[in-house]
Order: sequence, then C-alpha cells, then structure tokens
Amino acid sequence: MSKSLEIEICGVKFNNPIITASGTFGYGIEYARFIDLNKLGGVSVKGISLNETTGNKMPRIMETNAGMLNAIGLQNVGVEKFIKEKLPLLKKYDTRIIVNFWGKSIEEYVEVARILDETDIDMLEMNISCPNIKEGGIAFGTDPKMTYSVVYETKKVIKNKPLIVKLSPNVTDIKLFGKVAQEAGADAISAINTLLGMAINIETKKPYISNITGGLSGPAIKPVAIRMVYELYKTVSIPIIGIGGIMNYKDVVEFYLAGASAVQIGTANFVNPEISIKIVTELEDYLKSKKVDKITDLTGKVIA
Ligand SMILES: Cc1cc2nc3c(=O)[nH]c(=O)nc-3n(C[C@H](O)[C@H](O)[C@H](O)COP(=O)(O)O)c2cc1C
Repeated sequence: MSKSLEIEICGVKFNNPIITASGTFGYGIEYARFIDLNKLGGVSVKGISLNETTGNKMPRIMETNAGMLNAIGLQNVGVEKFIKEKLPLLKKYDTRIIVNFWGKSIEEYVEVARILDETDIDMLEMNISCPNIKEGGIAFGTDPKMTYSVVYETKKVIKNKPLIVKLSPNVTDIKLFGKVAQEAGADAISAINTLLGMAINIETKKPYISNITGGLSGPAIKPVAIRMVYELYKTVSIPIIGIGGIMNYKDVVEFYLAGASAVQIGTANFVNPEISIKIVTELEDYLKSKKVDKITDLTGKVIA
C-alpha cells in the first residue's frame, strides 16, 4: 500500500484513512468472508453498551430515494461479550479498531469507557446521539450542557486511548457542539451521525418504520455533512473524521477539502461490501494523477 494514504490521528497510525462506520459493518469480522480486512484503514464497530440490547421492533430499515432510514435501536452484544467473543477475532487483522459506544446515562457511558480503556483497541468513539433516559429522553448530542457533561465525565476515566466524539447533526449550530466537545476533552471529532427522518406508506397510512422516525443516511445527507465538517474545521483544532453519504473516492476528496483528516464509509457498505477497499485503490490513483504526495495535504484546502 502506498505511503500517500498513511495517516496519524491522535498518535494512532492508520495504513489509510478509510474506516467503516459504526452500525454498517457489524463487528468487522462478519465481512472477513467478503473482503480482506487488512486493506481497511480501520473499523468502527457497532455501538457497544454495558448490557446486551435487542434493539427496536421490525421493520427497522427502509430504503429511500437517496439512502436509507434506520431505527435499529442500538442492538449489540454488550461490552463483556464484545471483548470476549468479537475483539480477539478482529485483532487478527492489521486494521485499527475503533469501538463506538453509548449509554442511557452518563454513568453507563463512563462504565463502558472504563472497561474498554483496558483492552487493546486503538480508539474509542462516543456516540452522543442516543437519548438520556434520566433527562427525559433528550439526546446527549443535542443539548450543549449534556454534551459537555457526558464527554467531560467519560474523559476523566479514560487513561489509555484517544476519545473521538461523534456528533449528532440534529442541531442548529454544529460549531457550538464541536467547541463544547473539544473543551470537555475530546481528542477528535467524527461527524456526522444520521439525520432524523420519517417516511409514510400511503396505502396503509402508517410509518414504514415501527419506531415511526429513524435516522437518515446515505447520499442524501452528504451535502449536510460536508457543510458541517467545513464549519467544524474552522472552529475546532482537533482532527475531524468525516462521515455521511460517501459512495466513492470523489466523495472522500470532498470531505478532505472541507477539513477531514479521515473518513468513515457507512450506507455504501450495504450497496457493495467491497466499496471501502475499492475506494482505497481509487484514492491512491487519484493522488498519483494529481501529483499529491500525501492525502493529508488536502485537509481543509477548499478555496472558499
Ligand atoms: C443501520 C445503521 C446502524 C447504525 N448504527 C450506529 C451506531 O451503532 N453507532 C453510531 O454512532 N452510528 C451508527 N450509525 C450511523 C453511521 O455510523 C453513520 O454515521 C451514518 O450512517 C452516516 O454515514 P453514511 O451516510 O455513510 O451511512 C448507523 C447507521 C446505519 C445506517
């Protein structure tokens, strides 16, 4: 693999900047039958909580014109089972392991992070898009005070790993949340998670998704994500991992120009499980053809 794609984020070295996004690539190992995981820069695993969670009732996924709506409900095996059964299998590959995690209360975030901090994963990614049950269901990531508290309290117990805070786009001013996350101790930011959406079946007059609303992902959200990465780049001084609707290498370049230092590929994995590896090769060719030595040279280079 070419040196032009090597990157370093918060002291962690990646062979390339292509990371599979949480919830769209299982625990990584499920994909080992289809692709060579060694060729990925990193894998961000399905969001992990303290206890095993079964998620929402079906139907939980719906295809829209330009992406998908999902309300999986953060189904996962729980942190202990993840460490015992999934992590050792993923560790066999030369790819960085990012563990996406969540909680229903600050205490749960803190506890999951404390446990994961003692494992040999590479980075933690905190999903703040989930509702704080104690505070009446308001998402941690849509209230600046709650964002500050959950990041600050969790960061206090993390001694060994960099902490990425994954921002929710369901806010008016993303800059405020980037700033708050950085002040509370985030080492990096990933943006964006899904946008709240809804779709209705006109025959039955019922919502397509049992949860009524779901998270919109895929090409439809890319312009929103690019705008948010651009605004965050001008606001924070920590690295930004761009996410949202990436389908090909051109989308990756766009995220870099907006200010990203790495990217995650989500919904595209459902269209083509080999897409991330294809993007790595194409990106390498693009850099060569444009005579760009290192992909990092593109970060924030939009001419605006
Ligand atoms: C089915 C599905 C499940 C997801 N689960 C999680 C999750 O557990 N934790 C998380 O932080 N993001 C989760 N996401 C959000 C993605 O990681 C990503 O931020 C989002 O889909 C936008 O990227 P994309 O347009 O490339 O899919 C999920 C997305 C989908 C489609």
